[in-house]
Amino acid sequence: MKSINVFPWNEHFNTGIATIDEQHQKLVQLLNRLASHMAFHSDIQTLDTIFQELADYAVYHFQSEEAIWHEYFQESTLETKHKEEHDNFISTVLTLKAGEDIHSVDSTVSEILAFLVHWLAAHMLEKDKYLALVVLAMQSGLSQEQAKKQADDQLRGGIGLLINMVLSTYSSLAANSIQLMKEAEKREQTEQQLRISAEQLKRTVRSLDMANKDLKKQYIDSIKTFAHIIEMRPGVKSGQSKYIIEKATLVAREMNLNAEEKKNILYAGLLMQIGKMSLPDTLLAKSFYSIPLADKQRYLNHAVEGEALLNGLIQLKGASILIRHQYERYDGSGLPDGLTKKSIPMGSRILTVVADYIGYLEGSMTGEVMSISAAISQLMDRKESYYDPAIVDAFIKILKEDITVEIKEELPVIKKSWKNSRLAITSQNTLDCLVFEISWTQLKPGMEIEGIYFDNKPYVRNCIADQKLIDIIVALRENTGNNPVVKIRMSTK
Ligand SMILES: [Fe+2]
Repeated sequence: MKSINVFPWNEHFNTGIATIDEQHQKLVQLLNRLASHMAFHSDIQTLDTIFQELADYAVYHFQSEEAIWHEYFQESTLETKHKEEHDNFISTVLTLKAGEDIHSVDSTVSEILAFLVHWLAAHMLEKDKYLALVVLAMQSGLSQEQAKKQADDQLRGGIGLLINMVLSTYSSLAANSIQLMKEAEKREQTEQQLRISAEQLKRTVRSLDMANKDLKKQYIDSIKTFAHIIEMRPGVKSGQSKYIIEKATLVAREMNLNAEEKKNILYAGLLMQIGKMSLPDTLLAKSFYSIPLADKQRYLNHAVEGEALLNGLIQLKGASILIRHQYERYDGSGLPDGLTKKSIPMGSRILTVVADYIGYLEGSMTGEVMSISAAISQLMDRKESYYDPAIVDAFIKILKEDITVEIKEELPVIKKSWKNSRLAITSQNTLDCLVFEISWTQLKPGMEIEGIYFDNKPYVRNCIADQKLIDIIVALRENTGNNPVVKIRMSTK
């Protein structure tokens, strides 16, 4: 246990009578022990025990001391007064011990210790010292009167001044020491409490973080599920939203959009066709260009309805705005607000390019399934009019990086297109052989397969396609609901 010396022993406390000095030192030790236990908040039982020990020892010491005084000052006023002082001390100590304050109030604890220190120091330095000086003088042969006069002279002189200085120092020292130790103890307790609180806070933040991640994942999973439900409507291709968000996210990164904008694009890409839920099957089954003019407005209005469905949800507010503007045109000829160029939200401009591209490929735009180069040409032809040219360029760059190019009969066109747009052949290809990714619908017998992948896992590698393999791939696609990634190898010679 930590200890505190509120009453350090000093040689000036020595009276010169060995028995008395030894007992005084023992009393001071007990006092310091009591102060330490009080300062460091020992339990009540321990405090009581030490307090009782101090009181008992004081009684024992007073009896020993009084026996010595009695030998030299029998029945004199000196003896009587000294005994009265001892008795008063015992009575005060017992009163304090019996009081409830000692068990509960810190300020009372300091008060009691201050009393003990002051009383002991004053009594030893003034009263005991005086009697001891008289006794020692009598032992040297002086009469009691001569001895008293000599002691009086000594205490009026240097010794007296010294006594006053020591007394004053000890009183303030005791009070300050106790206060300091209590403050140090309190600070330590506060720091410990702070450490505990910080740890609890950390644990709470960790729990909240995990809960938040779970919630976010559940939220995104719910939106994905909803996107799948939308894709069950006629005219909306399975896996379309997945493709749109994959490519739109890459374009967003290319355009240096921030995390919030990317999140909005992700949600909008998954839900941009949600307004189609209220359109009739007959209208949805038509390609975009074949929708009669009379129905066109109704069809395009699904963007506004989609926004209205989602804008009440705080997390989807940003995405709902992108959905509203999916049919805006770069030159201002689009709907619903006729916005132009940069006034169209960047996310909407990106989604429009990617969604239209897949619409050209799958035939939902024109009614004809297009080759990749033809779809790219549609985008290129409509730069500045329908599409933001910077986004078309960024998207084509990403397509090139994916090696998403055309099959054999259109190879010369693609090679020319690459040259024009300064696109390079990637490291996966060699000078006399290129690897292309094609749509599963374009897979034909006789093609040299580099690999066919479901969920990024190869199903077959390095073989020639035949009708049997194609039938298996078609069946697998229907059973799994996932579009395979088909890569073919083609000679450039
Ligand atoms: Fe005494």
